[in-house]
Amino acid sequence: MSAVLRAPVLVMGAGAIGCYLGGCLQAAGVPVVFVGRPRVLAALRTHGLTLTDLDGARRRIEPADLVLHETVPITLAPALVLLAVKSGATAEAAAQLTDSLPAGTPVVSMQNGLSNTGTARATAPSLRWLAGMVPFNIAELAPGHYHRGTTGELAAEDDPALRELQSAFVRAGLPLHLHADLRAVQWGKLLLNLNNPVNALSGLPLRDQLMQRGYRQCLAALQVEALGVLRGAGIAPAQVGALPPHRIPPLLRLPTPLFKLIAARMLRIDPKARSSMADDLAQQRTTEIDALCGEVVRLAASQRLSAPINARMVELVKAWPARPVAMDARTMKAALRV
Ligand SMILES: NC(=O)c1ccc[n+]([C@@H]2O[C@H](COP(=O)([O-])OP(=O)(O)OC[C@H]3O[C@@H](n4cnc5c(N)ncnc54)[C@H](OP(=O)(O)O)[C@@H]3O)[C@@H](O)[C@H]2O)c1
Repeated sequence: MSAVLRAPVLVMGAGAIGCYLGGCLQAAGVPVVFVGRPRVLAALRTHGLTLTDLDGARRRIEPADLVLHETVPITLAPALVLLAVKSGATAEAAAQLTDSLPAGTPVVSMQNGLSNTGTARATAPSLRWLAGMVPFNIAELAPGHYHRGTTGELAAEDDPALRELQSAFVRAGLPLHLHADLRAVQWGKLLLNLNNPVNALSGLPLRDQLMQRGYRQCLAALQVEALGVLRGAGIAPAQVGALPPHRIPPLLRLPTPLFKLIAARMLRIDPKARSSMADDLAQQRTTEIDALCGEVVRLAASQRLSAPINARMVELVKAWPARPVAMDARTMKAALRV
């Protein structure tokens, strides 16, 4: 084991992404320290960590082998921190990290959206903030059991700390691509994440929702509008997944039998997978809608453009607690005016 791997990887926010990524790394021999909420830590202490995926892999870490903390330990000098809290919790987590960790500690945000590293850097400028991107879906199937329901490879901003750990990520079954600038990749991912609010409001598992043309038309409209805004801003989003971004909306709009035939790779999704925004809505937690459709609306405003469909989706999700009823595709199309 190289010197760098004796310093642990710290997971800040042991939830779906934190437990899955941290657990895969630990199963591959990397020392990992998890910081999380009492509810999650209690489940891990009772059940240990079980990691499964749609390819049939299963990994187990026993409770006694997990290093679990409710707060960031002050004695630690981690080789890397994986920030895996929801966007709304970024500033608070960044403040806790900077209070406890040595200056210069690299922290890679494994979160969705584009603003998290900026938010974190403003709160904790002494740490080295790096953008990351997780392409796949992770769901908590049972206490301590996290399941990867889709495919894809990690990406992050290039940094010596990540280069040192790159082979460990590969051993962990998490190939990690490093980029000089991650913004194009983040926008490519954000375009796909525009399905999160569609999925959350539909109340359906991802696969069932994507099998309904009306929901796909809503997603296509959100994407087309975002692509127009990106073009206006001179940003070329990267391909994240099977197709280049501009080829996805025409595919989504196809009649369902054709879509099913052509989009076989896109539909390689576990029948149970749902967007994490669905869980947020179900538990009446703050969602990441401002980091997704809200990001499109902000970019549009900065270019003196408008993004009314994404703006309406922000409103729909924010109105949810007052009207928590699953929205059928026809109602969603009418509400978005698409
Ligand atoms: N799940 C996915 O499939 C997926 C895929 C790609 C990217 N992502 C992105 O990854 C990020 C994390 O998503 P997730 O689904 O893993 O969320 P999650 O399951 O809610 O996990 C985050 C956990 O961190 C905890 N937390 C928040 N602040 C904390 C703090 N200061 N100290 C300790 N624990 C703290 C949260 O507790 P509370 O709930 O009490 O705040 C929660 O248990 C999001 O940006 C999401 O968009 C998710």
